Amino acid sequence: MAFELPDLPYAFDALEPNIDARTMEIHHDKHHAGYTSKLNGAVAGTDLEGKSIEALLADNSDNGAIRNNGGGYYNHNLFWTVMSPDGGGEPTGELADAINEACGSFDEFKTAFSNAAATRFGSGWAWLCVQAGGKVEVCSSANQDNPLMPGIGCGGTPILGLDVWEHAYYLNYQNRRPDYINAFFNVINWDEVARRYAAGK
Ligand SMILES: [Fe+2]
Repeated sequence: MAFELPDLPYAFDALEPNIDARTMEIHHDKHHAGYTSKLNGAVAGTDLEGKSIEALLADNSDNGAIRNNGGGYYNHNLFWTVMSPDGGGEPTGELADAINEACGSFDEFKTAFSNAAATRFGSGWAWLCVQAGGKVEVCSSANQDNPLMPGIGCGGTPILGLDVWEHAYYLNYQNRRPDYINAFFNVINWDEVARRYAAGK
């Protein structure tokens, strides 16, 4: 069964003014669609066909087509769901407790996550991950890598991800990546991040 491009869970313009409709349309319909079809092309007719995306990412770091397109497929699947037109604010409950435990406070988490996103040279992602037992960690990775892949410097299950490829922000923000990072915090869907935390801890 081939991997399918998921629909966005909201309209292209739903995240404006934080993320503009044209960027969302190109990002989903061209970039994410491209990763999806290239991933399907890379597994078709091989013994990788039928494996879950998580299993593919955990096991194929030396296969560039799987690593880049499988990472792109998985990362964008997560990305759309951790944003919402009703997002923003701060997490609550056990997720807030885990963030405070790891970072000291929500403000210190925001600084750490923003720094991870801003200092990732070139293209990549900033992450909040959960490890078995419930501890969370902020990190970043290059290109379409993610914490499910071995040896990228952080591990666990990603529960929040921010795409810092230029294709994610350049139309509206040009070279002002820090402004895009700030705007992302206005749309974070903390309910979904908390759901992923509970499932991944
Ligand atoms: Fe992207």
